[in-house]
Amino acid sequence: MWSISVMAVFGTDIERAAQLLSEGELVAIPTETVYGLAGNALNEDAILEIFKVKKRPKFDPLIAHTDSLDKVKSYVTHIPEQAMKLADVFWPGPLTILLEKQKHLPDLLTSGLPTVAIRMPHHRLTQELLKMLDFPLAAPSANPFGYVSPTTAQHVQDQLGDKIPYILDGGPCSIGIESTIIGFNEESKPVIYRLGGKKVEDIERVVGKVKLKIIHSSDPMAPGMLKTHYAPSKRIVIGKLDMLIKRFQNRKLGVISFHDTFDEIPPENQLVLSPSKDLDEAARHLFGALRTMDQKNIDLILTERFPDQGIGQAINDRLKRAASR
Ligand code: TXA
Ligand code: MG
Repeated sequence: MWSISVMAVFGTDIERAAQLLSEGELVAIPTETVYGLAGNALNEDAILEIFKVKKRPKFDPLIAHTDSLDKVKSYVTHIPEQAMKLADVFWPGPLTILLEKQKHLPDLLTSGLPTVAIRMPHHRLTQELLKMLDFPLAAPSANPFGYVSPTTAQHVQDQLGDKIPYILDGGPCSIGIESTIIGFNEESKPVIYRLGGKKVEDIERVVGKVKLKIIHSSDPMAPGMLKTHYAPSKRIVIGKLDMLIKRFQNRKLGVISFHDTFDEIPPENQLVLSPSKDLDEAARHLFGALRTMDQKNIDLILTERFPDQGIGQAINDRLKRAASR
């Protein structure tokens, strides 16, 4: 017996995407951060299918994507003042806000938590799509659970193409790292749970000093923020690249650097994320570089710590998780 796997169709047909989603099917959608695996967030069968396709544990809640504050208001009990300020300044954009959910949102979407993660993405195609829909889109990153997130339609096709009917192709993601996740603690103070595309410095300019509660353990109360995540299948080591190259000189090495190149390494096994030392450019190229390295004939990926400012913080967070076993 042989089985024929049918691959997803690529395209920019938002009407087709809207039709499929309305019928409870899943569609991959572009956002400025990473591609999402989208389904109707109010339809439990569609949500179950997302968990299944991603092989994602059900304790890891999904983000609901939408396109207007009016719609958000029909999903949450209220929007606290600080959250409103953030929404005003940063939506649409790479920021996800945790808000108290209304009862009609499925518990499956939020893994039983009283809060729902809401995001208004900036990508034009997806905004137009959301405008056509009368339901929010649940969309985790469109990769198998634990692997590197996709930043092109081809990345989605490579891993999930045989499991979904359609990939809305919006080109390469302009930010390249998942959204920053912010919520509010018992004293209504802002807390960042995941570093991401919206820089901490920008957020603090709007709501003042924020707490970071970035979890690097397998704490189920912080679902999805698992210690090992965003990981290619090859081992990654982070450190001073010239020293690492000496230390591992007997191995077949791949190097992902911020801006330097190294004479000891064949050029085809080196990926420079930003020759002009631009952290935003480096972020944009990071996940693609991890995927490319994963396919090369090497046994170890070496990389370095990035400057811990701006989106460099999120880059370091992702690399740390990718390197942890
Ligand atoms: O940029 C992004 O955020 C992308 C694009 C597609 O929008 N989406 C994304 O989704 O990264 P996902 O599922 O890969 O990551 C969502 C994270 C998970 O770590 C989950 O645990 C957390 O959001 N999350 C969702 N709802 C939550 C909640 N109510 N409380 C705490 N964390 C929550
Ligand atoms: Mg993810």
